[in-house]
Amino acid sequence: MKTFTLDEILTLYKKKDPTELFKAAWDTTTANHGESVYLRGLVEFTNKCVINCQYCGIRRDNKNVNRYSLESETIVDVCLDGFNKGLRTFVLQGGEDRDISVKDICQTVKDIKRKTDNEAAITLSFGSRTLDEYKLMKDSGVDRYLLRFETSDQELYYRLRGMPLADRLKNLEDIRTAGLQVGSGYMTGLPGESEETRINNALLSRDLELDMVGIGPFIPSDETPLAGSVQEPIDYAIKGTALLRLLLPKAHIPATTAAGSLKPTGREDMIKAGANVLMPNLTPVSVKKDYLLYPGKICLDETGTQCIGCMSMRVKSVGRKINFSRADALRLMNGKI
Ligand code: 5AD
Ligand code: SF4
Ligand code: FES
Repeated sequence: MKTFTLDEILTLYKKKDPTELFKAAWDTTTANHGESVYLRGLVEFTNKCVINCQYCGIRRDNKNVNRYSLESETIVDVCLDGFNKGLRTFVLQGGEDRDISVKDICQTVKDIKRKTDNEAAITLSFGSRTLDEYKLMKDSGVDRYLLRFETSDQELYYRLRGMPLADRLKNLEDIRTAGLQVGSGYMTGLPGESEETRINNALLSRDLELDMVGIGPFIPSDETPLAGSVQEPIDYAIKGTALLRLLLPKAHIPATTAAGSLKPTGREDMIKAGANVLMPNLTPVSVKKDYLLYPGKICLDETGTQCIGCMSMRVKSVGRKINFSRADALRLMNGKI
């Protein structure tokens, strides 16, 4: 399998016609991950958040959000249901909800682990936490943690989140120190971002040696201070996927819901550009519409089961196969797929 130097990768990325870039990314994906697109069940367990990100529809100051948090039993049931349908990995995602203690969510994880004979891999994603909290998660059986750095541009980061990027990077270091698999990522097309930012986003992901990198197009929401921002082309996210794949051949890269929301075949385009993960949304339909980070989000009326069916067709249409296995970080699997 051909490996590319940084110079070669950037030359491919900068070509006007991305055909060669996408082909290189596709071949690199096949060489490292086979024909599989792995499924991870997503459970959006709370939309409460103490943070006020300028871009996010469920930011603290948005009073038009019907706030919810799922009972522990509901989270466990949703995961067990997914487990019975074949899923072996679950992502419990939420806002930075300070009403739910880390201890409580760890107990929920222990329940899921016990009831699935330890077969299910669990990823948590609910904002910045302390090193001790990440360690508690690890001790409770949590496998992975997801925390996007959002943008590598320090000034832009500060403008959008009102705190330093360095803090976020420290969080990611803590996640690694605690022994969890590390997921991060960023948005493309943020107001004030440049092509240089997008390249730096991918380079930062490489430098952080991320196990998982999720990227998606920024979609302006009327419920935020960024209402009325320009919708930048989805191409930034698709080309970004290919760039990431070449820089991080072993990483798990999802074809994200935001891409599918901005363009009907956005996720397929991402797979063709090197993504190898899809995340069916298992959140109960009764609350799905309350987890609206951006407008036009897909899958709101469909159940997780319907999404799994829909995804298998989509994956087939681009010549890949869905795969239900845990798909841990490749660095933990001695190169075995
Ligand atoms: N458009 C696209 N993605 C968004 N996110 C938050 N708001 C938006 C938006 N308006 C992303 C952020 C966050 C992830 C959960 O969703 O990257 O980390
Ligand atoms: Fe909260 Fe995350 Fe939205 Fe920021 S992006 S406001 S941390 S849910
Ligand atoms: Fe959810 Fe298509 S993936 S409806």
